[in-house]
Amino acid sequence: MSSQPDKNFQLEQANASDDSIQQTHAQLLQTKPEKKDGYSFLPLGILGLMCAAVFFGSIYLAHNSVRFDPLVYSESAKREKPGAVANVALTRAQLGKRVFATTCIACHQANGLGIPSVYPPLAGSEWALGNEERIIRIVLHGLNGPIEVKGSAYANVMAPLGEVLKDEQIANVISYVRSEWGNAASEVQPELVAKVRAATAARKTYWTAAELQQVGP
Ligand code: HEC
Repeated sequence: MSSQPDKNFQLEQANASDDSIQQTHAQLLQTKPEKKDGYSFLPLGILGLMCAAVFFGSIYLAHNSVRFDPLVYSESAKREKPGAVANVALTRAQLGKRVFATTCIACHQANGLGIPSVYPPLAGSEWALGNEERIIRIVLHGLNGPIEVKGSAYANVMAPLGEVLKDEQIANVISYVRSEWGNAASEVQPELVAKVRAATAARKTYWTAAELQQVGP
């Protein structure tokens, strides 16, 4: 009795043809779960999250970022730009305020009053408000020696700024000086600065007040 199962098994084995064995193997192979060779959903999820972050980040930036406008940050930017930026155009004096704040303010002060007996005032100064070509010369080549401003005498030196500032910047800062602190003189154009610069190109020393007095009325 005990040998019965073995006998059956042998019979079954004997009955199995090559074809049926191959078929069985094929079935077994197919139903085997696929091998996951280092394949995981976790990095895919992280990648998806990163894509979403970039996507929504871009939308956020597009809606909330401040547009860079050269007119706001550069005093030498062209004012008459056609198109959408035209409405933020600054006047020459407004652009000149930036030049003043970096180049003149240390001596002539934010209130344009200078420092008594050291730095002369620009507010109400006959030199600032008078002949344009005189103040252009002062900024280009500097000023040396005794000068009377608003009835007070100064005997100091102002260094030349012609090498540091471009024609446009000089026109802007002079326009600012001539229209700030109650001053109300005409705007100065860069073309005039260029003209004076060319006409005085040979000048190597600072001006004196006496020399400047001879420049026009
Ligand atoms: C380092 C100090 C200093 C700086 C910077 C300076 N100045 Fe002066 N400025 C003087 C002094 C000092 C005098 C008087 C010189 C003298 O005594 O002969 C003067 C005189 C003047 C005068 C004629 C007198 C008057 O008060 O009106 C003008 C105009 C003037 N400066 C404009 C400017 C402008 C515009 C800038 C900037 C672009 C500038 N200065 C930058 C020191 C300075």
